[in-house]
Amino acid sequence: MRVFVTGASGHIGFAVVAELLGAGHKVAGLARSEASAEKLRKAGAEVVRGDLDDLAGLVAAAEAAEGVIHLGYKHDLAFGGTPDGFVKAAEHDTRVVKAFGEALIGSNKPFVNTAGTAQLVLFGGMTRTGTEEDVLPGGPRVDGENAVIALAERGVRSSVVRLPPTVHSSLDHHGFVPMFVAAARKNGSSVYIGDGANVWPAVHTLDAAKLYRLALESAPPGTRLHGVADEGVSFRAIAEAIGKGVGVPAKSVSADEAPKYLGGMAHFAQVSNPTSSARTRALLKWEPTHPGLLADLAEGHYFVSADRPTSQVRTHRGPRGRRSR
Ligand SMILES: NC(=O)c1ccc[n+]([C@@H]2O[C@H](COP(=O)([O-])OP(=O)(O)OC[C@H]3O[C@@H](n4cnc5c(N)ncnc54)[C@H](OP(=O)(O)O)[C@@H]3O)[C@@H](O)[C@H]2O)c1
Repeated sequence: MRVFVTGASGHIGFAVVAELLGAGHKVAGLARSEASAEKLRKAGAEVVRGDLDDLAGLVAAAEAAEGVIHLGYKHDLAFGGTPDGFVKAAEHDTRVVKAFGEALIGSNKPFVNTAGTAQLVLFGGMTRTGTEEDVLPGGPRVDGENAVIALAERGVRSSVVRLPPTVHSSLDHHGFVPMFVAAARKNGSSVYIGDGANVWPAVHTLDAAKLYRLALESAPPGTRLHGVADEGVSFRAIAEAIGKGVGVPAKSVSADEAPKYLGGMAHFAQVSNPTSSARTRALLKWEPTHPGLLADLAEGHYFVSADRPTSQVRTHRGPRGRRSR
């Protein structure tokens, strides 16, 4: 299948590109810069030069493809420090997926979109384990998810992969884990909030990439999927593993003190988001095979710094014997 992938040069998107090419698909990846375009060409993908702001260009690329995977996102806007950036980025994303939807109506092509498991807690107040059946009526990122699921009624084989707050691996250079590592270095301690019993779900980048391929190939129309391998790792355990890697103690801070240590991440560090992927695993025969979050942290790649040569960092082999870093 010839697949148009947005965010193809990004952390997860680039792994999805490799997964698709490895399975014999052709990939046309969106690239907004020559550097991103070159990265994609070297990997063996075609390049569609363009920007997420150019909806007409996205529509044309979707029409020319046999399937679409959407992983591009304006993280610079969402996390750029402006008070309404997070909401504005999500609103922009909803416009993008609606434009894709218009291009794909009646085609029966697969369209795989991206959302987050944490939205069930952040915007739905969920306190139990979240499942694929849990649906919110609206909210940032939720609107995009619901718009894509609704396309199933209009001749699109649409699906949404909800990702956990941390998609981890040696390919992850600017997700939450690197941010918490940087904060631990700066603070001289790796903090958790209260007793740190709140849990985060997690998935390895290469397991997530495989799920996107399976969704593209065979998810039934209107399917919500959970790209979750670890159902819930306590934030205290995460903070302790980061402290060990950085060489600083882990310590508890109060919710009031947390922003002093973690800035804007303090809010996320308190989230408890236990998440099941039982339905996803059964439906698509998806079984994560790469290290879980704590095992991945123990590998050491997150803690490479200028004073520690990369040769000292253990790596592991990805699928088909490929090195994952
Ligand atoms: N990483 C996680 O732990 C995690 C967790 C939950 C959900 N997610 C979601 O998963 C998706 C992929 O995340 P990621 O970690 O792979 O993100 P990423 O590494 O930041 O990659 C973002 C991608 O979007 C592209 N992009 C950004 N603005 C663009 C624009 N204006 N025009 C064209 N392309 C643009 C980037 O292109 P350049 O390479 O040119 O910058 C890059 O390819 C996002 O929707 C993200 O919110 C990620």
